[in-house]
This record gives sequence, C-alpha cells and structure tokens, in this order.
Amino acid sequence: MPLSPQEIAEFEELGYLFLPSCFSEEEIEALREEAVEIYKTDREEVWREENGAPRTAFAAHTYNEAFGLLGADPRLIDPVSQIFGEHLYMHQYKVNAKAAFQGAVWQWHQDYGVWSRDDGMPEPRAMNIAVFLDEVMAINGPLMFIPKSHSGGTLDAHHDTSTTSYPLWTLDDDTVTKLAEEGGIIAPTGPPGSVMMFHGNLVHASPPNITPYPRKIVYLTLCAVSNHITKFGRPEFIAHRDFTPIEPVSETALLDYARARKKAA
Ligand code: SIN
Ligand code: MN
Repeated sequence: MPLSPQEIAEFEELGYLFLPSCFSEEEIEALREEAVEIYKTDREEVWREENGAPRTAFAAHTYNEAFGLLGADPRLIDPVSQIFGEHLYMHQYKVNAKAAFQGAVWQWHQDYGVWSRDDGMPEPRAMNIAVFLDEVMAINGPLMFIPKSHSGGTLDAHHDTSTTSYPLWTLDDDTVTKLAEEGGIIAPTGPPGSVMMFHGNLVHASPPNITPYPRKIVYLTLCAVSNHITKFGRPEFIAHRDFTPIEPVSETALLDYARARKKAA
C-alpha cells in the first residue's frame, strides 16, 4: 500500500516513519532463525563485537534465501521508491544482532555522513528501512533518534575507529546536546515485524544491551539508482557496487518461503 500524504508529511517533518505490524510472526520467525545460523558462521561478512559476540552480518541478502526475499520485498522497496520517485539499488544490508548482555553501543552518527565521506555518495538520496526481528524495548538497546535532526544537512564528524569494532563517522557531545535541546530523543519500540524508515541525515545511536533479551534488527539501505556511489574504498560486502535496480518479489514470497521451510524441517 502506498504511503499516505499524511505519512509522507510526517516523514518529511520528523525524518522517520514507524510502520507497526508489517510482517507476520511466521515470516519473522524464519528470518530470526536464519540470522542465528548466520552468526554462528565464520564468514567475513559477520563482524563481531570486541567481546566476540556477533555485531552485524553484512550482505545477508546475497547468501541467504530468506534475507534475499526480504531485500526485494515490496513492503520495504515500494515506500522508499515512492519517496525518491525512482528505482533503487541495495547500497548496504545489515542484520544487526545487539546480542543479549554483549551487544555494544552504536555511537551518535548520521548514515549519510558515512556514505558520503567513505563511499562518495553524491546526495542523501538513500535511506534505511529497518525490520525488527525481536521485540525492541526501552531496555534492550533500542535505536534512538533525534527527531528533525535530518533538516540541518550533513554535520561535522570525527572518524571513530576505536570505540567499537566498526569504524564510524561520529558526532561530538556538544552537537548532540544542541540537537537534543531542539528535537528531544525518542526510541521507537515495538513487536517483531515492525518497520521503521529513516532519512540518511537523521542523527541516531543505540546503547549497549545489558539485558537477557537480544535485539535483532535488519537494515536495508536503499539508494536511488541515479545516486550511486563513486568511491570504492570499503569492501564490496559493506558498500555494494551492483547498481542494478531491485525488482520486487511478490508480497507473499517471504511467507511462502517461511511455510515451505517449516514443512521441510
Ligand atoms: C546503525 O546505526 O546503522 C545501526 C544501529 C543499531 O542497530 O543499533
Ligand atoms: Mn546508522
């Protein structure tokens, strides 16, 4: 279903849009179980926290059928393509673990600050659309946003290569304080299957997870095809170089897959 004018207006004003109950438990269960299997492998795409727990599995859509179907699901592709008014390719794909007791911080940052500095992406015409695989609660390391912070463009940032296992262009405390005075800080929570779309310049972060409850979220970074990257310093599995427009699969493809998988088990 296309986004309504009210949803588009909300996205433009706040920089994010929360879409509850997009995916069924049957679909999510299959993805969650596949994620756990992927984290057990020693693939180069699986990055770990400094403590050894899984942090993220990059490019899972390229080597896992369930995540491949999710990466072409019209419920994710269509809203982003509607906003940009053109075809999309997959710039990045992550299955973030935020493991129970061990998941570490993601520092305050803007994703477009990373895509532009590291990958030479011309404009902030790429966006994350996230799918919750576990319940995201206030206590298990939810993603935090500063509403409206996308409207100030790309801010000065520092390349932090030491705080976590994953280098990131991060914002300083004064900048975050000033932005939070204006927009506050929110942390959308919700059941597995919820979807969240957010602007490439929206300032966000997440705290460590010290609870027994894992918080897996899949992030598709969808980029307008005409806005493809121009710098190729990061590994291909982190910043993709295949700019082929994504051809959406049918709305039931993931559910059909999940049911067949369960039957075969
Ligand atoms: C991100 O900022 O790209 C991920 C943050 C998270 O999963 O908590
Ligand atoms: Mn980010």
